[in-house]
Amino acid sequence: MSTIDKIKELKKERNAVILAHYYVNDEVQAIADYVGDSFYLSKIAAKAEADTILFCGVSFMGESAKILNPAKTVLMPDMQADCPMAHMADFNKIEEMRNQYTDLAVVCYINSTAELKTHSDVCVTSSNALKIVKALPNQHIYFIPDENLGRYVASQVPDKHFIFNDGYCHVHTSISAEHVKKAKEDHPGAEILVHPECTMGVLAFADYIGSTSGIIDYATASKTNEFIICTELGVLYELKVKNPDKHFYAAGHQQFCPNMKRITLEKVAEALEQMTNTIEMEEDMRIRAKKPLERMLELG
Ligand code: 13P
Ligand code: SF4
Repeated sequence: MSTIDKIKELKKERNAVILAHYYVNDEVQAIADYVGDSFYLSKIAAKAEADTILFCGVSFMGESAKILNPAKTVLMPDMQADCPMAHMADFNKIEEMRNQYTDLAVVCYINSTAELKTHSDVCVTSSNALKIVKALPNQHIYFIPDENLGRYVASQVPDKHFIFNDGYCHVHTSISAEHVKKAKEDHPGAEILVHPECTMGVLAFADYIGSTSGIIDYATASKTNEFIICTELGVLYELKVKNPDKHFYAAGHQQFCPNMKRITLEKVAEALEQMTNTIEMEEDMRIRAKKPLERMLELG
């Protein structure tokens, strides 16, 4: 029996739904029930009715699914698939900022550990950060953990005061302004589509800035037929499915998330078969981490 057939059979047996992020391997995206950006996937996870949610992505995605839908078994194909940026903020610094500014909102990118979320007021993703920060009554925003997304949001919301944290995504920061300049020289007719985890120097070249879904939707709707892609290259799978006649070029040379790429079809089948790679969390932590995630779902 092929691995794909095995997955189909086990999926029925376990009453499972498969969610996948756009950065996982093409063949994994192809067998998923839902593929999307972080915001879309968190909404799907929150209202999933199947007994088991198999999350093809990194730890914080599975954790968020468990936090929002605790009655379900949340399975990860690879427990080592983790986003380094999710750990890049310091609890003591958060408390320090809270003491310094009475009117502070700790805005936490969803790419964060559950524990970090418990110290935050609201979560955001790259597709709803602007809307949510604008809607907050607070004047002072401590944006964690991603400095680049924080700086982008700050540039669009000039009436608020931002404090930044020094977290970053090594995949997106591997793309430099020089790379983009060179790609534009090579493809002068191409539009430049940029994820806001990139540096401000890269964002300055963008024709469009948005989440993975935003980038895919923009390219699909555009009359242009050439694009320079400034995000992880897993998005090329959906871009090419939706736009077989358009051309897509990478800007840099390392647009590859090694953690997302840990997810394989074999690990998907194994997780469903063994049911051992489950996300477990203390109930107290789950309740506290749920608050900022639910606020995101309300405001986003
Ligand atoms: P989005 O899919 O929400 O744009 O997130 C990008 C990302 O880095 C997820 O790890
Ligand atoms: Fe984390 Fe960057 Fe990989 Fe997304 S692409 S999971 S932010 S390391």
